[in-house]
Amino acid sequence: MDEVEGDPLAVSDQAGTIVRVDAGRTGLVWAVDASGRLRQVTLGPGGTGRSPDVPVHLYPLAYPTFGEEPLREPALRVTHADGVTSTRLRVTSVTSAPVDGHARCGDLVHRVALVDRAAPLGVDLVVRTWPCHDLLEQWVEVRNAGDGAVQLHAAAAFAPTFAGSDPHLTHWGGGWAAEWTETTERLSPGTKVVASAGGVRPSLHRAPVVHLAPDGRASETEGSVAAVAVAWGGDVRFDAEVALHGQQRLVVGHQHVGAERRLDPGGSFESPHVLWTWSDAGTGPASRSLQRFVREEVVRDGARPRAVVANTWEAVGFALHPDRLATQIDRAAEIGAELFLLDDGWFGVDHPRDDDTTGLGDWEVDRRKLPDGLGPLVDRTLAAGMRFGLWVEPEMVNPASRLYAEHPDWVIGEPGRDRRTERSQLVLDLCRPEVRRFVVDTVGRILTEHPGISYLKWDANRDLTEPGSSAVPADRQSHLAVDRVRATWAVMAEIAERHPDVELMLCASGGGRSDPGTLRWFHELWTSDDTDPVDRVRIQWGASHLLPANVLGAHVTRWGQRPLAFACAVAMSGRFGFDLDLDALSPDDLALCRRATDDYSAIRDLVQQGDHHRLVSPVGSDRCAVGYTDPRTGDGVVFLFRLAEGADGDEPEPPPVRVPWLDPHGDRAAIDRTPGGDHAALTVTGGRVAWPTGPAPCATVLHIPAVAPDR
Ligand code: DGJ
Repeated sequence: MDEVEGDPLAVSDQAGTIVRVDAGRTGLVWAVDASGRLRQVTLGPGGTGRSPDVPVHLYPLAYPTFGEEPLREPALRVTHADGVTSTRLRVTSVTSAPVDGHARCGDLVHRVALVDRAAPLGVDLVVRTWPCHDLLEQWVEVRNAGDGAVQLHAAAAFAPTFAGSDPHLTHWGGGWAAEWTETTERLSPGTKVVASAGGVRPSLHRAPVVHLAPDGRASETEGSVAAVAVAWGGDVRFDAEVALHGQQRLVVGHQHVGAERRLDPGGSFESPHVLWTWSDAGTGPASRSLQRFVREEVVRDGARPRAVVANTWEAVGFALHPDRLATQIDRAAEIGAELFLLDDGWFGVDHPRDDDTTGLGDWEVDRRKLPDGLGPLVDRTLAAGMRFGLWVEPEMVNPASRLYAEHPDWVIGEPGRDRRTERSQLVLDLCRPEVRRFVVDTVGRILTEHPGISYLKWDANRDLTEPGSSAVPADRQSHLAVDRVRATWAVMAEIAERHPDVELMLCASGGGRSDPGTLRWFHELWTSDDTDPVDRVRIQWGASHLLPANVLGAHVTRWGQRPLAFACAVAMSGRFGFDLDLDALSPDDLALCRRATDDYSAIRDLVQQGDHHRLVSPVGSDRCAVGYTDPRTGDGVVFLFRLAEGADGDEPEPPPVRVPWLDPHGDRAAIDRTPGGDHAALTVTGGRVAWPTGPAPCATVLHIPAVAPDR
């Protein structure tokens, strides 16, 4: 038996228990030492056991607690009812159970129950395996089983350690119109914290995913890497620690600073769920696992093809006029759009929504702009063979609104403090049941009055400041950070449940809500307000580290004044659509858009459902190549982008791009589907495709079907 530290009587009846968690490529092994502490023995693939030479108690703690391991970042920090601040957990039981309805891959839920050595505090570490996706879902449940209140300062969802000598962390962020800006850095001793902020649009600032490569920077195809995402609609936090002797640990969960919780007797807290996957073959397989998981297990109706959307925001903004909109609808149908989306500006009676300073909260049609209401627009859209979608921002209110005049207490704010507006608006307090009811009923009324609406774009355009709720007692205002997310989710869930046939797009000033928690009630999201296609190549590249292309709204606009053909090509590598004044397009440009839509329909399944391969990175370069393939058929499509002229200086022209799923010794027939191109039939030789040669920015879209196309 291993040596028991401290009290020799504290020998655990769980000592020696091994917990093997196996999700194919991703796994871990925990072991209980003689004193009942849970240790992490291995992490990664083939976690089959421990070295017989190393006693269990020398492995790192699986879930470090404050006061237990003084030189490491704690995952759990609690002040117990008696004022004690240290926690030492010992295992009391381990269970593993199959997941109902998921027998196909042998999915299991492992639950390790721990209690503090003295205080009546229970902590369950829960791991749900997703072997079909090589992925683990992990979370923590904390319970106060005593009769005094406990203060919970931090409770991470998981805190694994990594073995390696050259840790690199990759994370994404950047702000409005700069989402998914990639940073990779070598970690040095200390703790690198990356976290989101603002509460409502967190992923505008920091995407809820990181890569940790413990033993040297990983490429797309080589190196070991853990890809870790948090399914949480609020602020998230990743603490990447390099401690003594180079020991690495990642502590992941919601942002706990400012979100402390009081657990009353019998009270409990469940952390957000973390999704993570391990790859020994670079970042590509890790991203494909996360993408597939989001598509198949998270978003609604993930296998359903996403429609080609024509949106009004970049076309006409707030200046809505029935005749102008009728023309936009007709043109949208001409270019093959399948869904017409009426964005902001259609509502507000006493305070018409002529700009972003008024009207939010008053969800009635502005009859000055649309005298006959939405009906004629919906009818015209349906008659043209398209679906109709509508923009809402139901969690917000402008002070210049009837709603605010009637219910000034329905907003997030703090007594005796200014109500600071951002974008001239305030956040509704969804912790109040009557406010939740108002939002659910408002959306319900709009949809009931207009049964032709089958799509809503759900926007949210400000952060939390002065974060207080009149629904929460004064001594637990810090609960708001978590409770507001849960309340928002409850509203979203109810709306999704009541209107199962209405597709929902998630938007928050662009990609401010790009998390696999909130996406559960949505079909897709608006990736970024930055639609300059040169920037979009990098943004969509970044987003692919978590999200599949079928959720990444990508619209052709005039941002950046790039060639229309290039803008079409970039949008075709996501969920294709348009956001431009279609009436201002020349006949040639309309024809180009129509042709791009037709080409997109030929490759839509590949882009939206295929395996995604990042081939050449645009990060720090002016070229990018990505491909999508159906592994069952061998069908594929490759996008190559040159982003700037002369970008490579005097460098020789880079070689053609190797397409990993093609035979390097064979020839394949292909169709050039580059927008504005001649649709030539081509032959791809040696599994390599050439870069476009026109003036940059320019693109090639090459469709390489498994079966040779008719010539
Ligand atoms: C922010 C969104 O990101 C835009 O697409 C647009 O819907 C505006 N809001 C409308 O106010």
